[in-house]
Amino acid sequence: MQHDDRPALPQPDASSAEHGERVAAFIRARIADSGGSLSFAEFMQHALYAPGLGYYGAGSTKFGADGDFVTAPEVSPLFGRVLARQCAEVLAVVNRGAILEYGAGSGKLARDMLETLARLDALPERYEILEVSADLQERQARFLRAELPDLFSRVSWLDTPPENHTGVIVANEVLDALPVERFRRSSTGVKQLRVVVDGDSFVIAEAPAPRKLEQAVLAIENELGQCLPAGYVSDISLGLPGWIAALAESLQQGLVFLFDYGVTRREYYATERSGGWLRCHFRHHAHDDPLILAGIQDLTTWVDFNAVAEAAVRCGLNVAGYSSQAQFLLGGGLDAEMQQFSSMPLPSQLELSGQVKTLTLPGEMGEHFKCMALRRGDVIVPSAFTMADRTHTL
Ligand SMILES: C[S@@+](CC[C@H](N)C(=O)[O-])C[C@H]1O[C@@H](n2cnc3c(N)ncnc32)[C@H](O)[C@@H]1O
Repeated sequence: MQHDDRPALPQPDASSAEHGERVAAFIRARIADSGGSLSFAEFMQHALYAPGLGYYGAGSTKFGADGDFVTAPEVSPLFGRVLARQCAEVLAVVNRGAILEYGAGSGKLARDMLETLARLDALPERYEILEVSADLQERQARFLRAELPDLFSRVSWLDTPPENHTGVIVANEVLDALPVERFRRSSTGVKQLRVVVDGDSFVIAEAPAPRKLEQAVLAIENELGQCLPAGYVSDISLGLPGWIAALAESLQQGLVFLFDYGVTRREYYATERSGGWLRCHFRHHAHDDPLILAGIQDLTTWVDFNAVAEAAVRCGLNVAGYSSQAQFLLGGGLDAEMQQFSSMPLPSQLELSGQVKTLTLPGEMGEHFKCMALRRGDVIVPSAFTMADRTHTL
């Protein structure tokens, strides 16, 4: 699926290349163990999360200028500051409670939120982090201990979702990191795209889709009211409902903020969108070949937000709001966080206005990124959604 007109990717340095070869050998062994092929979701799971080896499981720099991609908390502390204001509204009605962050990356979002909540005198009782990568857990702990010595005692790491969580749950760009299945519609049925070994490379081979994948694709077609065209290739996260169910089960009362790049199901499976939504990131180059650079590039997929809403509703949550990231930030207190702007020195003003543009402009992160809020119990709809709410588009 490489495009010839795409700029060449940078070469990995020697130690990354060596690490990539170890990951590839690990995956080749898993393919051999499984009789010659893995589903794409299994391949993605190993490439990202094999302990000590996968992209998130091992020690490379991923986030920021020296890594492979930037996320909103890496772009600017304003993202976490506005989100903290929204969390404060919820924490006030549940009598403080706790914040649980899934997949905390470098730890910057936790830092920015805790600093702001302290400033607003709205600190949660606890700030818990559920992070699958042991390497990232260690980095987050080092970072937060150094950055927030006075608040660090409130932070703890969990291996499983807590029971009876009251308060807020936050996940920025975690849904896009869940492994997906890839499929192709043919005139005779649904094919599963699997990964096999060809010499030193991985290549895609097709097999009849297992029942669960076939049923999921047929359910999408049923909802769309038409069959996807023959030859149509796309992605589906069969793990997403389970991830939402685990989160929902632990939420006794409160609100969940999920941020990610994503669209509605009609847009996701639009007939002109054959090829799917999987993207790969290596040293700030985005491309669409997931079978190279195993374990040293990020693999990520846009989110079908209807799937998120459906899974949540099945678990007794309801959708409190769905908006673009720009709408969320503009409605959620960006102006309040910018109050000191005019008294700042010019270089700081320029830096901050650049960050605001990246977070909010439609051609940057403003429109592709969405926020979906889910709630359980007697909880207010946060003010960020009073400016604009697109739940009706789902
Ligand atoms: C794309 S990074 C985003 C990091 C951070 N939230 C940010 O915005 O910079 C995805 C993060 O989710 C974590 N992750 C992936 N699957 C997860 C899961 N099932 N539960 C918790 N964390 C997960 C990864 O280890 C990583 O920290």
